Amino acid sequence: MAAHYQIGGATSAAISASVESGIRTGALAPGDPLPAVRALAAELAVSPATVARAYQELRQRGLVVTAGRHGTRVRPRPPVATRRAALLPPPLPGARDLSTGQPDSRLLPPLGPHLAALAAEIGPPTGYAASAVLPELAAVARDRLTADGVPAEEITVTGGALDGIERLLAAHLRPGDAVAVEDPGWANLLDLVAALGLRVIGVPVDDDGPTEPGVRAALTAGARALVVTSRAQNPTGAAVTAARADALRRLLAGRADLLLIEDDHAAELARVPLHPLAGATPTWAFVRSVSKPYGPDLRLAVLAGDEATVARVAGRARVGAGWVSTVLQRLVLTLWRDPATADLVCRAGESYERRRDGLVEALAAHGVSAHGRTGINIWIPVPDETLAVTALRDAGWSVAPGAPHRIAAAPGVRITVSPLDGSDLDPLAEAVARALRPTPAGFTA
Ligand SMILES: Cc1ncc(COP(=O)(O)O)c(C=O)c1O
Repeated sequence: MAAHYQIGGATSAAISASVESGIRTGALAPGDPLPAVRALAAELAVSPATVARAYQELRQRGLVVTAGRHGTRVRPRPPVATRRAALLPPPLPGARDLSTGQPDSRLLPPLGPHLAALAAEIGPPTGYAASAVLPELAAVARDRLTADGVPAEEITVTGGALDGIERLLAAHLRPGDAVAVEDPGWANLLDLVAALGLRVIGVPVDDDGPTEPGVRAALTAGARALVVTSRAQNPTGAAVTAARADALRRLLAGRADLLLIEDDHAAELARVPLHPLAGATPTWAFVRSVSKPYGPDLRLAVLAGDEATVARVAGRARVGAGWVSTVLQRLVLTLWRDPATADLVCRAGESYERRRDGLVEALAAHGVSAHGRTGINIWIPVPDETLAVTALRDAGWSVAPGAPHRIAAAPGVRITVSPLDGSDLDPLAEAVARALRPTPAGFTA
């Protein structure tokens, strides 16, 4: 806790280094408050301006967050490796962990046979010059995106969706610029935006995607980029419908000042059609990850966009990490081309849908309303996240609090359905209903 960690330093650089070191060692945990500026200044015999500068620098790097009268705190997941990264207490022994947001490992294609087949055909080692986007991979990716209505003349490959989004934001925006993101939205994206020194503007989201008034307000507030999750929105399961896509395309048409990013992370797993916004603005990118259908460890996403945007992403990669290994690209291509894998991905999509819909129905039968049109998560609005998470943990279910996913959205908890079997749905729904029931008034221990 902050109370036990002595922040030191006589300059703003030394003070911010001391806070960072506390985060690294775990002495300052995610969510811990930092001392008030004046109090720390008095303690260190420096001016309040020195401490304020240190806090500002930490804020710009996404290590801390300042929330009005709540003061300055360590971010839930600061962008520095820490020996105590977990925001949540570990699940109780024997508790079922529904907090991870991970796909069901039982439904990911086994890689062994594909790696063995690749070994036989991979050919001689590849050098620098020959390495880029594999033409065969690009051709298949283009066909798949075009079939879904995404203009895909220009594409590149990144190390996952978030890597693509980071490169896009870094190439187009400057620290202090505002990014409109869904609220509630994906916690990792909020962390990334903070780590890049960008500001967030929350856009309310309903089951059909980001709301039109929300996007309009974000544009008015000066958003320089907008990130939209096409399907399987995390945490709510929203998917952009045809009507919402039409409305947003009209709203965004011709906005030359806005970078539009679409994140189609569910890809082949999504059981609803894609209604892309791609091309509505002159500057746009559509990112499709392989993580959910084929496995997060593959670290690959395809990024389509306008010519200038794709050139920025690919060009920046070239002067940095270089490219996504062609070994990995070949592996993904093999998976895409394998009919048995396509069949498995299709069955996985059905299985998530069954469990998600089953849980939403079971909750409804217990009087609890929940969201989860697509994907692997459901979102349950709750009056108090801490109470709900704690009561469920005591009942043997570990669920994710909504706080890391929210800006101004109302509280909720996220349940990932990946570990659930059909027989779990009713007992879980009953436990949720009990956790949300108000405790009898008037009782004091
Ligand atoms: C909204 C969203 N986008 C993207 C991803 C996956 O990103 P990556 O391709 O970097 O694994 C996730 C994973 O949970 C997600 O929830």
